[in-house]
Amino acid sequence: MGSVPVAVVLGIETSCDETGVGIVADGRLLGAALASSMDEHARFGGVVPEIAARAHLEYLAPCVKAAFAEAQVAPGDIDAIAVTAGPGLATALQTGVAAAKAYALSWDLPLYGVHHAAGHVAADTLEHGPLPERSVALIVSGGHTSLLLLGDLARDPIVHLGDTRDDAAGEAFDKVARILGLPYPGGPAIDRAARDGDPTAIAFPRAMPGSSDFSFSGLKSAVARHVGREGVAAVPDIAASFQEAVVDVLTRKAVAACREHSVTTLVIVGGVAANRRLREVAAERCAAAGITLRVPPPRLCTDNGAMIAAVGDLLAASGATPVGFDLSADPSAPLTRAALV
Ligand code: KG4
Ligand code: ZN
Repeated sequence: MGSVPVAVVLGIETSCDETGVGIVADGRLLGAALASSMDEHARFGGVVPEIAARAHLEYLAPCVKAAFAEAQVAPGDIDAIAVTAGPGLATALQTGVAAAKAYALSWDLPLYGVHHAAGHVAADTLEHGPLPERSVALIVSGGHTSLLLLGDLARDPIVHLGDTRDDAAGEAFDKVARILGLPYPGGPAIDRAARDGDPTAIAFPRAMPGSSDFSFSGLKSAVARHVGREGVAAVPDIAASFQEAVVDVLTRKAVAACREHSVTTLVIVGGVAANRRLREVAAERCAAAGITLRVPPPRLCTDNGAMIAAVGDLLAASGATPVGFDLSADPSAPLTRAALV
């Protein structure tokens, strides 16, 4: 038996347009609830922070209630609260942080601030168990494209092997979807459109070969130029060719990073990890390189509360010091540790 008793952790995520609540104990997801204001942003072509923040205010308490019901626990069973403190939209983050403080104060519980991207990584542990001693993580979301060298997620600093120089991978999907006249969010729309397309139809550029960093703005411009010349008659082919370029670059660099650092586990997380083609190509290339690939199921790839509870669970188990009620939302928090203080 471990020396630290198992804690039941309530996690809250409100950094963007998803209101997520999850309850985790000992690496296991007991219950979760998710509400989204995505439809309210669609006509603006992107997330409107004030709409997102108001939606969090409306959805949060019902989500907490629903997560309790699914987990079959009561407030008295909770041992700690974890909340996304950044990065994200300022007003959206503040809603979650204020709620987490209120729960921690009224139930007299320790509070942990969590880095959103570390939450994406921890999501995978709910499906595939604890991470090995060393792993490489590829985080691909609307806000992040990072290759990371990980040790103990709760204790060790996070080492950046590569980052995007401009657009994040998800941002590139969203912008290209707009160019193609596809709805927001663009990732799932391109994923769907690409199924009927030929990924070799158009040879879009692969930026920064040989580097661990990423750049997607040149690819986006290449798609825009192609559409300017040829129009959007062949959306499936353009979508498939664009997606292939992104997936090729992401998987190639992730496998190279594993090789370079003699790491045999790659974990791919974040909203873009839900992409069907990325999962396919990553599986092929990891198998060929003798690398164990871990990708959470799609519902745990996109933003959710369970992933934040999962970090809280790791922090509690490692004996991390909780934060005080002076915890504040940090919209541009750098990714150096899983815990934000
Ligand atoms: O992790 P996430 O839910 O939120 C952030 O932390 O940003 O990621 C959202 C991003 C969006 O850009 C969305 O278009 C993209 O993930 N995404 C996808 C897919 N599903 C979501 N991109 C490609 N293929 C998908 N199936
Ligand atoms: Zn996210």
